[in-house]
Amino acid sequence: MTTGLTESPTAGWPGWEPAAACDVVGLCVTTDEDVLNQVTGGLRKVAVRLVLKLGSAGSTALNLLNTMVTPDNVAHLSGADPAAGAAQPVTYSNDNRKGTLRMSKLALVTGATSGIGKAFAERLAGDGYDLVVVGRRQERLAEFAAAHPQVEVRTVAADLSTDAGIDAVAQVCSGEPLDLLVNNAGVAHYMPLAELPAEKARELVNVKVLAPTLLARAAVGGMVERGRGAIVNVAGMIAFSGPAPHSQMPRRAVYAGTLAHLVALSQTLSAELEGTGVRVQVVCPGVVATEFHERQGLDLSAVPRMSAGDLVTAALRGLELGEVVCAPGVEDASLLDAVFRADLAAFAGQSPELATRYRAG
Ligand SMILES: NC(=O)c1ccc[n+]([C@@H]2O[C@H](COP(=O)([O-])OP(=O)(O)OC[C@H]3O[C@@H](n4cnc5c(N)ncnc54)[C@H](OP(=O)(O)O)[C@@H]3O)[C@@H](O)[C@H]2O)c1
Repeated sequence: MTTGLTESPTAGWPGWEPAAACDVVGLCVTTDEDVLNQVTGGLRKVAVRLVLKLGSAGSTALNLLNTMVTPDNVAHLSGADPAAGAAQPVTYSNDNRKGTLRMSKLALVTGATSGIGKAFAERLAGDGYDLVVVGRRQERLAEFAAAHPQVEVRTVAADLSTDAGIDAVAQVCSGEPLDLLVNNAGVAHYMPLAELPAEKARELVNVKVLAPTLLARAAVGGMVERGRGAIVNVAGMIAFSGPAPHSQMPRRAVYAGTLAHLVALSQTLSAELEGTGVRVQVVCPGVVATEFHERQGLDLSAVPRMSAGDLVTAALRGLELGEVVCAPGVEDASLLDAVFRADLAAFAGQSPELATRYRAG
């Protein structure tokens, strides 16, 4: 598809000619509705008109449009009907509903069929994001799309414990101009390691380690190119629970390991992306009221739990605050800083010499 956007009409409209073979045969860039009507009225082949509410038109507007008007975006201009041979008004405004040129942000959320992922998707839809929602339960994805007609919702049914599922979603991450990737899908499979069936351990590592790693990998290149974007990885406070006494916690060796992976991945990737405009956050909730435990046959209804909505509020505010590790339920953020300072102190404390305590006495 070509757009015929070759020259700014405001910078010399009489000489402007739409490209001979193009699907959108005319784009009028102006801040003045009267000028627009004159221009589009005088041309038989103008199919799309735009009013840009810019302070000044001309080359700035054209440059902007040249970056905005891609075949993909043009496909969103539902008012355009080149075949009709008459002007079809499509007014640009900075909202993101169907039928306007897409200026909205685009987010992909995994595990959007329930709990935290659904709460993320709902909040983002409310904030005007177009969405790609991912999960295995297709009927829930379809319900979500039907319940949010004000934004574009693409549903992707994929099992992120499989290579095929991960690859399918990774393709979307690399092919679409994502502003936000929320790696949220997850299971826990709390169980002593020796009793954890191998296929459950594999599923857990695939969903919580391999999938977020490969999806972030697929998304990050485009984000860096565009100079903006954010990746939110949903881990949990259990990432920090390694030293906890055995009696206090559920059996969780693999699950805790996957969450710790997300913390380390997010911190190092965030540092790697410094100066690119792309942000990375790992969000570490405590216990949240979702289907998570219930799906494993655990009843935590008597345990005080955070709402998924509060968690999303913290994650999005944490992004604004520039937090790499967001712990929605930890009041004293200096506790986390102390952990990371201790991490770095231990890291810096190494040497090639065998530590004294290991030398034969
Ligand atoms: N709830 C908590 O207390 C808590 C605490 C700390 C961290 N977290 C983290 O929060 C994240 C979200 O959990 P939640 O509490 O919202 O639980 P949830 O209500 O059970 O939601 C889990 C989501 O993950 C998706 N999912 C699971 N396996 C998948 C697979 N193989 N492929 C694709 N999608 C899959 C599920 O979708 P389908 O079943 O439709 O595929 C569902 O949408 C998890 O990663 C968990 O580690 C939760």
